[in-house]
Amino acid sequence: MTVNKHNSNDILIDKFNRVVDYVRISVTDRCDFRCVYCMDDEMQFVPRAQLLTLEEISKIARAFTELGVKKIRITGGEPLVRRNVIKLFEDIGQFSGLDELVLTTNGSQLSHMSQALKDAGVKRINISLDSLDAEKFKRITRVGDLEKVLASIDAALAAGFEKVKINAVILKNRNHDEVVDLVRYASDRGMDISFIEEMPLGIISDRDRAEAYYSSDEIKTDLEQVFELVPTTETTNGPSKYYKLTETGTRVGFISPHSHNFCDDCNRVRLTCEGRLLLCLGQEHSVDLRKVIRTHPEDIEILKQAIRDSMLIKPKGHEFDLSEKPVIFRHMNVTGG
Ligand code: GTP
Ligand code: 5AD
Ligand code: SF4
Repeated sequence: MTVNKHNSNDILIDKFNRVVDYVRISVTDRCDFRCVYCMDDEMQFVPRAQLLTLEEISKIARAFTELGVKKIRITGGEPLVRRNVIKLFEDIGQFSGLDELVLTTNGSQLSHMSQALKDAGVKRINISLDSLDAEKFKRITRVGDLEKVLASIDAALAAGFEKVKINAVILKNRNHDEVVDLVRYASDRGMDISFIEEMPLGIISDRDRAEAYYSSDEIKTDLEQVFELVPTTETTNGPSKYYKLTETGTRVGFISPHSHNFCDDCNRVRLTCEGRLLLCLGQEHSVDLRKVIRTHPEDIEILKQAIRDSMLIKPKGHEFDLSEKPVIFRHMNVTGG
């Protein structure tokens, strides 16, 4: 029997006194793209039988909202390639106590899914776009079609989300020369944009990650040749540090895991598509929530207690080093960032 002892004062707090109120849920590790910083040429994906079902994901999401989580981001791989995923958005969109249901996507499916996502209660969407040049875009994503993603971005804008943000991972000599054009593209359409420093997750054979490092400070200097950027304390409770373009008010964010570590303010944990609760993107500390939920399918209190207990092993932060071989072997598609 499910005993609901939901206490509205419940919050998740780790041993460094950080309140965790943001959960990123990866619903699949599969993707229709193969971005060079995220995946290797050949990838092995989680066998379908090992995936959490959508019902299990929904139950875990509910447990988190009962523990004070205010923001849930659905990620992948590419989350929109998971069959019937809209049903999950519809379920989570109804949970009381949640301020924001948001999505990170590569944009390939938004032309036909934007309206359903909006109707399900998705407030904001972050879409990856690393280049505005079709050939470069293909080189970075290995298979992506730029025209299709640009059409998808238009569809997302037309659907009327509160915010559509562009995410661009910047790599030296691949797309670093496009930062000004990407900001213009975003600001012309009323979108925010975040630039991301590449993180060394998983082994990739494409190139040396250190050689392609392009820091947030270098990007900012490039932008300042053209735009006036004013620092702002506005936040989305994510890792971006934002500046505003004086010209248009567009927010330009920098996600700088190497140059400006943000672990001290970490407020998030991640659920992988197999049900592993990862306490830090750059470490392996985790709890097997699939085991908990399958052993006690009717008892949300046991699940909630496992989540509370996980706070004790949340590490202080990550120590990425681009010059060393990666110490984290999981690729980014496992956690969706
Ligand atoms: P907003 O809600 O718009 O702030 O989104 P977000 O930046 O939190 O999420 P998004 O999915 O757009 O992620 C952008 C980038 O930030 C991805 O490359 C993530 O891997 C990275 N990121 C998010 N959280 C963390 C974190 O805790 N540590 C590190 N190192 N990177 C993170
Ligand atoms: N380093 C930094 N960002 C990455 N992303 C995927 N792999 C990496 C990596 N190795 C980004 C995607 C997407 C977000 C979820 O994570 O481009 O915008
Ligand atoms: Fe797919 Fe996103 Fe990874 Fe690119 S970064 S391969 S779009 S999961």
